[in-house]
Amino acid sequence: MKKTIYVLAGILIFLVACKKVTNSESSYLNSETPLLGETAADYSIRGKEKHLPFQLTQNSTFSNEKIELGRVLFYDKKLSVNQAISCASCHKQELAFSDGVKASRGFGNEATPRNSMAIVNSDFGRGLFWDLREFDVKSMVTKPVQNHIEMGFDSITQTLDRLQKSSYYPALFERAFGTKTITVENLSEALGGFVSNLISFKSPYDFAADNNFASYTSEEIRGWEIFNEKRCIGCHGFDLNQGWSTEVANIGLDLVYKDKGSKNPFKGGILEPPFDPRFSSGEGFFKVPTLRNIALTAPYMHDGRFNTLEEVVEHYNSGIKDHPDLDWALREEISADFSKVKAKKMNLSAYDKKALIAFLKTLTDQNFIHDKKFSNPFVAKAN
Ligand code: HEC
Ligand code: HEC
Repeated sequence: MKKTIYVLAGILIFLVACKKVTNSESSYLNSETPLLGETAADYSIRGKEKHLPFQLTQNSTFSNEKIELGRVLFYDKKLSVNQAISCASCHKQELAFSDGVKASRGFGNEATPRNSMAIVNSDFGRGLFWDLREFDVKSMVTKPVQNHIEMGFDSITQTLDRLQKSSYYPALFERAFGTKTITVENLSEALGGFVSNLISFKSPYDFAADNNFASYTSEEIRGWEIFNEKRCIGCHGFDLNQGWSTEVANIGLDLVYKDKGSKNPFKGGILEPPFDPRFSSGEGFFKVPTLRNIALTAPYMHDGRFNTLEEVVEHYNSGIKDHPDLDWALREEISADFSKVKAKKMNLSAYDKKALIAFLKTLTDQNFIHDKKFSNPFVAKAN
């Protein structure tokens, strides 16, 4: 009964509050309140892609109600201290939850020091952020996460108070947690539930991998071969997130890094031992990002220095710098003196570069970027 009243009230407010926004293709209605069904959407995942190393199941710690509440929070500007931005301002679904710019803008319009990351299968990796400084998606809100306080979360009580007074959150929290009282803990759990359920596993690559690559063009097959031959796969493995073994690496973007990256990649339990003590400076180690949906997530690297996949491929082909901590996989040889570095030259032909990019494009998951249950609940298509 309460639910019905809530939904009716929502529709009413929506009708009163909606504004027509037109973009080039179709018109959208912006709503002040989330447009949700009477029951929460189904976030469970069915089926098993044969090539994936484990069975995907719904993340059982989160109910559909919690995840859907997380979706509302993710898209709601009420969450930022001055109601200027939402998580989705920097993590856009059509861009696989990345932002299309080098540096994003926080609630005070200041630029983020690093490139916004795609949120794709994040919970399957071994750490979060470019420097792996966090592990638990649920702590994203509670801990004042350095470099990620672009929403002014230090004033969280003010935000909680605002949510508590809104027309829709008390009912949504009650539906998810059995209580109307909004706390940092249940807010974090709902948001974490949504973030960890942003799972992409239905790209043309997944289909091909399950079918002996019969669906690939010859160019894509060549790209897949290069991806294996040139050891890209050793770091960017294809379980659901990044590599099998490597969490952070120095890929020789610079001789001296401006952003030093992971402060201590070898200590504090981030990397499992044995680590190699020969890495001297510990500088320039960044998270090995997932390449899923990579065609959508430009610009690239922790600082967004490359605008296109062509530029990225040219870096690996001819641009790797002889940084003393350059990863082994990207060295010409491992000399007895580890600090003597000779970066690999891949000598890819023009066709091979094109093929590699054609392969990378097969990692785009249209299901993921069009899935309504991940979309903005404050917007409805008008036609
Ligand atoms: C102003 C832009 C901005 C806003 C707003 C923002 N983010 Fe981010 N996000 C970033 C940037 C930039 C990074 C990379 C930061 C770094 O590594 O230092 C990032 C990284 C992340 C990651 C790590 C992904 C991974 O796989 O390692 C997650 C998860 C994430 N954000 C979730 C959120 C959530 C949830 C919200 C809302 C509560 C949010 N973000 C709001 C810009 C933003
Ligand atoms: C030694 C491990 C390693 C190897 C080998 C490697 N990469 Fe990377 N890759 C990384 C790391 C680490 C980053 C992020 C670096 C940064 O931002 O400083 C990255 C970034 C990228 C990006 C940009 C991702 C983004 O979200 O911005 C692409 C694309 C990419 N690599 C493709 C490739 C290809 C293609 C190959 C093979 C030619 C390859 N990588 C080989 C570790 C590796």
